Amino acid sequence: MSSKSLKPIIIAIDGYSSTGKSTMAKALALKIGYRYVDTGAMYRAVTLLAMSLGLIDSDGRVNEPKLIEALPGATIDFAVTSAGQRTLLNGNDVEDRIRTMEVSANVSTIAAIAAVRRDLVERQRVYGEQKGIVMDGRDIGTTVFPNAELKIFVSAPARVRAERRFKELTAKGEQTTFDEVLANVEHRDHIDTTRAESPLRRAADAIDLDNSNMTIDEQNAWLIEQYEKAASRD
Ligand code: DC
Repeated sequence: MSSKSLKPIIIAIDGYSSTGKSTMAKALALKIGYRYVDTGAMYRAVTLLAMSLGLIDSDGRVNEPKLIEALPGATIDFAVTSAGQRTLLNGNDVEDRIRTMEVSANVSTIAAIAAVRRDLVERQRVYGEQKGIVMDGRDIGTTVFPNAELKIFVSAPARVRAERRFKELTAKGEQTTFDEVLANVEHRDHIDTTRAESPLRRAADAIDLDNSNMTIDEQNAWLIEQYEKAASRD
């Protein structure tokens, strides 16, 4: 199919944590020349902001009023560098810091705060104004872009996801155990699917992808096929 006949669309990729959503969304965006927005990174950046301002106590309780006060003054951007796409918080590269277990342990609590979600959803919609975007998260197809032309819902069993995440973290030298990572994945699934505000759920018109037994190449080819179908529809 000629790329000339394809119109620019919004591609929403939602699903459980550690399903490889970001990796596939990034690869797809690169291949088709779209902008990639990692909304999980935005929630992680707000979590890091709260932690650095001392707004999360040792029991994981958040000082919501102070965080909501600080949020409008904070900038969250993405920069494409030779080291890949990097998340910037107030202009500083926080890509590595937002991926630590410490941030992962607090991010679901931050992502459950209604005012935080409202703020970030508004920022995310601005990215979609020009179309030509791949955005991944939990509520992209349901809340951020309910009219997205292509919606993918990714899932895989918790153990498969924890295995992948454990390999990633240990490769980075992080000290952790498989059981700790599995507990974190299950804990995040629980909070993500049961929170009152924009819980993780499949949009009625999403296409399902269980990638437990797929290679990265198979997955990328499948995604391109879905994109070409959606972008050539009238
Ligand atoms: O995809 P991730 O693991 O980087 O996401 C981090 C957390 O942010 C995860 O616990 C769910 C939350 N999140 C969300 O609530 N809504 C989104 N659109 C993206 C992420």
